[in-house]
Amino acid sequence: MPEPKPNPWPAPLPYAGKNEVRFHNRVFVHFSGCDYFRLARDPRLAAAAKKTLAETGLNVSASRLTTGNREVYLQLEAALAKFFHAGAALIVSDGYLAPLAAAQALAGRFTHAFVDERSHNALLDAARMLDCPVIKFPHRDAAALKKLLQKCGRNARALILTDGMFSGDGAVAPLRAYLKILPRPGLILVDDAHGAGVVGRTGQGSLEHAGVGRERIIQCGTLSKALGAFGGVVLSSVAVREQIMAHSRSFVGTTPLPPPLAGAALASVKILSRDTARRKRLFANLSWLRTRLRTAGWEIAETPGAIVRLPDLSDAEAARLKKNLLAAGIYPPFVKYGAVARGTFRFVISSEHTRAQLNKLAGVLGHFISTAR
Ligand SMILES: Cc1ncc(COP(=O)(O)O)c(C=O)c1O
Repeated sequence: MPEPKPNPWPAPLPYAGKNEVRFHNRVFVHFSGCDYFRLARDPRLAAAAKKTLAETGLNVSASRLTTGNREVYLQLEAALAKFFHAGAALIVSDGYLAPLAAAQALAGRFTHAFVDERSHNALLDAARMLDCPVIKFPHRDAAALKKLLQKCGRNARALILTDGMFSGDGAVAPLRAYLKILPRPGLILVDDAHGAGVVGRTGQGSLEHAGVGRERIIQCGTLSKALGAFGGVVLSSVAVREQIMAHSRSFVGTTPLPPPLAGAALASVKILSRDTARRKRLFANLSWLRTRLRTAGWEIAETPGAIVRLPDLSDAEAARLKKNLLAAGIYPPFVKYGAVARGTFRFVISSEHTRAQLNKLAGVLGHFISTAR
């Protein structure tokens, strides 16, 4: 008899409350996923999706450039452009496709592409579409990038690709420094899947956080994290949007996201535009937890994103902490993903976590470090 293959899937984690999941028939508080404002199960998004479903059906079954365009897509793009103060917004089927669609439109315009070494896979794949050499640069290191740019010669036309907010630890890209060292007509392509809607004074993302304009930056985002819906968006000038519509194979040749999801995303943009208290709650939660953990003795980086990453632990320590968290009713967010291939504890904070839930987490982590010394 052949050996049964091990199941490659993590256990399903159905929601069991606003901040809870069901795992092996028990309910645990969770600090994972990127539904930062818990909008994914907000009844207003569900109602908007239902209404759009009744009006449009589930799917348009065609490219937007043939018979697949709908009013709700245009409304969503107008709302996104307004929220992010961008010249234009173009929605694409998901967040992964957003930088790819932009890069396909930009192919042939650049002599060199520079990608932050810890960029998301979406950017690594996007860089391959540019038809130019792709060079990785050290993570968030503007000085190292400057040296690499200087080696390219006077006629170089460079594109820098970077995450806006890095989901591993919540750090942001130094966009202002990059703009300073990037000779014209160079551009920056930012994957702001985690920053858009979250960081910056009004939630416009890593550009607003860095205090830089949009003239030389294309910002890509997802509608599935802060916005709690689904889909991707490219925020750019009208000219770049037109180039994507004309030249991007992945835009021209795909069915757009289902209209009900666009309806839900539109409801979400309206909520986030009005309800600024959510962002205040998110950062108050983050700051409260970080202070408690530092007081307990943890070294926790001060990053702009709503992520608390623990310092790396040995395998034995990680196993013990997982056990302690589970015993306290907290699902252990130990991630092995992308740049954190070795595995690390990464707690994603939400505006809707209660103080009691944060207190429980701080208690477990405080006890762990006091007994580890
Ligand atoms: C940095 C980054 N870019 C892109 C994506 C892809 O977005 P989506 O899930 O909407 O395809 C993700 C999703 O996890 C992400 O973290």
